[in-house]
Amino acid sequence: MDAELRNVLQRMPKAELHMHIEGSLEPELIFALAERNGVKLNYASVEELRRAYAFKDLQSFLDIYYAGASVLLTEQDFYDMTWAYLQRAHDDNVRHAELFFDPQTHTERGVSFETVVNGIYRATQDARRKWDLSASLIMCFLRHLSEEDAFITLEMSLPYRDKFVGVGLDSSEKGHPPEKFARVFAQCKELGLHLVAHAGEEGPPEYIETALDLLQVERIDHGVRCLEDPELTKRLARDRVPLTVCPLSNIKLRVFDKAVDHNLLKLLDAGLVVTVNSDDPAYFGGYVNENFLQMFDALPLNKEHAYQLARNSFEASFVDSESRRKYLGEVDTFFGK
Ligand code: ADE
Ligand code: ZN
Repeated sequence: MDAELRNVLQRMPKAELHMHIEGSLEPELIFALAERNGVKLNYASVEELRRAYAFKDLQSFLDIYYAGASVLLTEQDFYDMTWAYLQRAHDDNVRHAELFFDPQTHTERGVSFETVVNGIYRATQDARRKWDLSASLIMCFLRHLSEEDAFITLEMSLPYRDKFVGVGLDSSEKGHPPEKFARVFAQCKELGLHLVAHAGEEGPPEYIETALDLLQVERIDHGVRCLEDPELTKRLARDRVPLTVCPLSNIKLRVFDKAVDHNLLKLLDAGLVVTVNSDDPAYFGGYVNENFLQMFDALPLNKEHAYQLARNSFEASFVDSESRRKYLGEVDTFFGK
């Protein structure tokens, strides 16, 4: 890739719409928090932990990801983790970020919902003041847990309803189809929350369809397997349902073997509203710009594709219409359009 395109990818204004804040915990911070909190880890050093980041599929990653999150105990821990991510996002010229958080990972360990949400939220407010970087939160339900558990979590979240903009569905996809959560999502819709779900990452295209039909989601997280179903692909394109694609995640979790095998360009060519995101940047080898750079290195993508992806990221975001106009204007100005 030439230096100009590289520079464009790094400097263009962008939104990041698919990242799990617990997936931004770098090994160094995991060890620092473990020490601060007296939590014992099953790894002797940062290096040993990093060496364990060789995943064979989604579940092998999730096992380590949940172990890493066990060091988070206090509001300050959640603040520090979020602040570190927002600093990196700012370095990558992210103007708006939507952060997933997994309350059940923490409430199951006896950490209160309040501790989790207040720590994360306070960091987002500081980032807005310091860098004019906007960040909002999306609460995820863990799909390997029960519907009842999700309802309890939703109930717990209600006093903090003003601190998050939507709900999502994550964790082990296979064997946990969207319909398991249809009733919870219906209630979230009544509450005026935005709705998204992971679907078609490892799971089949039917999960994308049921996420749309039964959960009524507005975006699909991942969704890369949609191309296996031409009718579904046409529907996603026609209805402009955004896909929040995470290239490095897909490669690390063996959805695709190598960067050159990724279907990002095919998704764009199918007319889909594709966005590029980092998913769990501390675990998958890079933050959002690294995802752009590796894809543009591997595939015949050019500056027009960069423009499209930057626009898509704001089009697909849950910002208000005035902010959307402002951000799209920043993109157009950057690209001289
Ligand atoms: N939780 C964190 N990262 C995830 C992913 N890529 N898929 C499902 N659940 C997740
Ligand atoms: Zn994800």
